[in-house]
Amino acid sequence: MAADLIVGIQWGDEGKGKIVDLLAQKYDIVCRYQGGHNAGHTIVVAGKTIALHLIPSGILNPKATNIIGNGVVVSPEALLKEMEQFDNLEGRLLISDKAHLIFKYHEQIDKARERLRGKNAIGTTGRGIGPAYSDKVSRQGHRMGELRDIDTLLDKIMDYFKANEAYFKALGIASPKKEELREELELYRQRLLPFVVDATNYLWEKMERGGHKILLEGAQGTMLDIDHGTYPYVTSSNTIAAGACTGLGLAPKDIGKVTGIAKAYCTRVGNGPFPTEELGALGDRLREQGHEFGTTTGRPRRCGWFDAVAARYASRLNGCDELALMKLDVLDGFEKIKVAVAYEYEGERIGYVPSDLENVRPVYEEFAGWDKVEGVRGWDDLPIEAKLYIEALEDLTDTRIGILSTSPDRADTIIRK
Ligand code: GDP
Ligand code: IMO
Ligand code: MG
Repeated sequence: MAADLIVGIQWGDEGKGKIVDLLAQKYDIVCRYQGGHNAGHTIVVAGKTIALHLIPSGILNPKATNIIGNGVVVSPEALLKEMEQFDNLEGRLLISDKAHLIFKYHEQIDKARERLRGKNAIGTTGRGIGPAYSDKVSRQGHRMGELRDIDTLLDKIMDYFKANEAYFKALGIASPKKEELREELELYRQRLLPFVVDATNYLWEKMERGGHKILLEGAQGTMLDIDHGTYPYVTSSNTIAAGACTGLGLAPKDIGKVTGIAKAYCTRVGNGPFPTEELGALGDRLREQGHEFGTTTGRPRRCGWFDAVAARYASRLNGCDELALMKLDVLDGFEKIKVAVAYEYEGERIGYVPSDLENVRPVYEEFAGWDKVEGVRGWDDLPIEAKLYIEALEDLTDTRIGILSTSPDRADTIIRK
């Protein structure tokens, strides 16, 4: 049976966690395939809030197995901290032995490079994501499975420091102390190795046997994709649906239904182009009504209007069968709601996303606002203005909107027939 997939179609923080948690009640296996603890997925159930960074958002379904795939970069320290929130993870959490490790020095490199970039900083989460992926690609990274033999791993890390001595010195990063590092690795070996498996084989077996429903959970969003996002202001992985193939060891034909997650407006954390950003009072109002502060870093998110050009691009890139439109309630009380329906670029009106997105200006269409949709759980109970807005977004993105969300709570969701 093919695996269904959830993917962010904006700049992250679209509400993926809420939808994965909601859908996970019907799935047996939930997998993360890229990113690391730069992600922050918030779930609210019956007034209780849970923030997840590395553990897939299926963890609240006690029957689901949660997999951290080979495409994820794992900070053992962050993972152990996150695991403390849950009892009995044995058998409910599996980590690929091919997932790369993030060490303290990756975080130090990330922060040092950001400092050196000055005003051109990416605005990373400072979690060491980029440096860990760089080490993976330059074949000097280390994988989960290497925790099986920490003596060898320790020697390799010390050699790596020696080989890159000048670089580390220039960044002001000291070599780790061998005995301290050994203790750290020993702790990770003891606590994490019981969860480490060949995750690809595990998934293949379940797929071949049949009867297991599998959900794949993307982190970040399409516009932060290393290839198709707003490079270099992106994250260091393929966030799009295609990333699930490499990040788990699946073939394209293993992917089933793709649901793109979008906010009813737009946000972005960190630097880089954001055509529909509102820098004034309207942006402040969206930030306040939407509580737009990062789950991972607490940074205020930049806010603006729904960008239908970028959303249509993202829907095509991911092959979205449908969209979930989140945070519709945040637009409650706005008299007028704007949507970018095209861009002005090099003196022309265009309907696609050029690779230099910083040089476009949005062309807006205005829609009438509504009083209140907060907590609405049925399509028929939505005000006509909200229905018209949703239908217009379906037209503009060429994608059906199958799910609507009207509060952070799992229960406040409309599944359209
Ligand atoms: P993710 O990274 O895509 O999982 O999204 P985040 O969890 O970082 O950010 C989304 C935020 O919006 C979280 O605080 C959610 O609890 C919240 N949220 C999700 N859906 C809704 C909604 O429909 N309405 C409101 N008001 N908040 C929502
Ligand atoms: P979730 O999964 C929003 C952004 C950072 C920065 C850029 C690169 O919660 O949607 P990185 O630390 O990855 O090297 O930072 O990517 N970023 C996110 N923005 N949501 C996220 O994850 C993000 N993960 C990274 O702000 O601009
Ligand atoms: Mg988030």
